[in-house]
Amino acid sequence: MEETPRPTTSSDLLEYFEGKIVGQPSTAERIIPFIQTYKAGLTSEHRPIGVFLLLGPTGTGKTRTVEVLAEALHGNAQRYLRIDCGEYQLDHEVAKLIGSPPGYLGHRETVPALSKQKLAESITPDCDISLVLFDEIEKAAPSLARLLLGLLDKGRLTLGDNTTVNFDKSLIFLTSNLGAREMMREMTPTFGFGGQPDHAERAQELAGKLESIALAAVKKMFSPEFVNRIDAVITYQPLSEAAIAKILEHQIDELQHHVNSRLGPRCFSIEVTQSARDFLLGRGVSVQYGARELKRVVYRFLTQPLATMVAENLVPPGSTVIAGVDAGNEKIDLQVRLAEHAVSPAEKPALLIVDDNAELLKYLKNVLKSERWEVRTAASAEAAVRCCEEQPIALALVDYMLPGMDGLALSKRLRATRPSLQLILMTGGGEMSVNEESGLGSDVPVLQKPFLIGDLVSLVQTRMQRGDADGALTVGSR
Ligand SMILES: Nc1ncnc2c1ncn2[C@@H]1O[C@H](COP(=O)(O)OP(=O)(O)O)[C@@H](O)[C@H]1O
Ligand SMILES: [Mg+2]
Repeated sequence: MEETPRPTTSSDLLEYFEGKIVGQPSTAERIIPFIQTYKAGLTSEHRPIGVFLLLGPTGTGKTRTVEVLAEALHGNAQRYLRIDCGEYQLDHEVAKLIGSPPGYLGHRETVPALSKQKLAESITPDCDISLVLFDEIEKAAPSLARLLLGLLDKGRLTLGDNTTVNFDKSLIFLTSNLGAREMMREMTPTFGFGGQPDHAERAQELAGKLESIALAAVKKMFSPEFVNRIDAVITYQPLSEAAIAKILEHQIDELQHHVNSRLGPRCFSIEVTQSARDFLLGRGVSVQYGARELKRVVYRFLTQPLATMVAENLVPPGSTVIAGVDAGNEKIDLQVRLAEHAVSPAEKPALLIVDDNAELLKYLKNVLKSERWEVRTAASAEAAVRCCEEQPIALALVDYMLPGMDGLALSKRLRATRPSLQLILMTGGGEMSVNEESGLGSDVPVLQKPFLIGDLVSLVQTRMQRGDADGALTVGSR
């Protein structure tokens, strides 16, 4: 996937960060100075570069903060060492973080989750700062806090096999939703969920209140020594409606970026109407989960159906897919609007009609064109062959009776140059069948003239989907 340029200066980093983390203004301001101090060579050794406690309700951007930093420093949102504390709820599970001492049964098989190697894997040649995340620490057994104490204090950790791992080039993040419930309660009576204080002064007052609630909860759970080793406590505010709408916008932009980089010259634009946005926001936001659900909802209602359309070749390059809401307000409805200036014909697999009846040729061309296909016509076998050399043809609709060469021979010849070519034969004879001695296989349908135009269109439709699928890529991945 195409990479965005990486921020280098402090203000670049700030800007990068603020463009990605919505509605949490102090986050970047608190973290970035620690990175700068390290880069200037001014951090004290034998300590992590910085230790941050990120507090606040679920789905407000705590984990995302570390991903954005990983993107900024290492060019990859997943390049950080993550310890999911939910997996260490019991003391013996916490022991897995450091591995068992030698002599214990199976000690060689246990790779400690906090090993030197894991740490080394989280850095890149461009940046030697490792990001270490202890996610949702409130879920871990109390012994984790004890283990962390040494790590936070001295920047090193002794493993079960007595080797030490150095964290003095690490930024350590601890996230927790401790106090989140009380924080929400504080928000609700005044502003309601998603409400935003109307005065900056009141916003500040509220932020202060939320911070002290969070801190009180932390002090209740962790020892004073532990709290003392934290460099900055950052409180995440519940997201306002406007912030969540902006996050949706980011996610739509990301989807567009993804389409552009995956499909290259075959890419298209995505336009999401206000009603579709409201639909996604309505389903993707909850008091309990913040914006967490939004990502899933976008994936399910927008990315997946779009990917299906792309795989079925229903989205021509350069067109615009407009996402609206269906009549029942049950799902997102995707409509393709064709580009005003079509993509150069050489890039686009087309449909070829071969018939020496000029009148019929013109009629069929108009009908199929109005179905949004790129249509070429040929009145003779030679013209058809030439046409196939000029441009990739996905499907040829060939009349049996042609001057000079019959339709079967021509079909065979065209298919020899492009094995994935889909074929449909037309005949006025009534008795023709393709599977016998034709050499074309039995998958070539024959339309008896006269035929209903609707039958032709639906036949072409299914064949076009089935046939030439090169360039049909799956959009979106998880
Ligand atoms: N403040 C925010 N800015 C941008 N995106 C956010 C924000 N908060 C949540 N999101 C979106 O919601 C998803 C879940 O948020 P996450 O950071 O995992 O929540 P938590 O605070 O529970 O760790 C993120 O991946 C991101 O897409
Ligand atoms: Mg999280």
